[in-house]
Amino acid sequence: MKKAIYAILLVTALAVPAAASEGPSLERGKALFEDGKLGTSGKSCATCHQGGRKLEWAATYEEEKLAGIINNCVKQALKGKPLDPDSDDMKSMVMYIKTFAGPGR
Ligand code: HEC
Repeated sequence: MKKAIYAILLVTALAVPAAASEGPSLERGKALFEDGKLGTSGKSCATCHQGGRKLEWAATYEEEKLAGIINNCVKQALKGKPLDPDSDDMKSMVMYIKTFAGPGR
């Protein structure tokens, strides 16, 4: 019985660093932006915002507002389910979209 408990503790300890390396990231945001999995329309964000087209101002918005705009495009343009604003997916998306900021685009 004790062995089983140690086994569970060990598995939990090993799983924690793996989970921590997930979290929000630019890579995750880029993947979500480019693959069509967020919706059912066969489109991705990149279909309409190739190379960050029309997103050069997005980084100047408040994150909460930006998340709302992103979800509008998820719902309307991609026919998908809105992302939870506090999810790692949304945080990653916001992070990635901010990389398109700036003039000269
Ligand atoms: C079918 C085309 C289409 C798709 C697909 C699409 N969008 Fe959009 N998106 C638009 C249009 C059109 C606008 C309005 C742009 C404008 O003229 O300001 C817009 C606006 C936005 C804006 C606000 C830009 C601004 O400065 O006001 C953001 C942010 C955005 N989209 C993110 C996304 C994300 C993230 C996805 C993928 C989940 C996505 N869009 C998918 C067409 C699309």
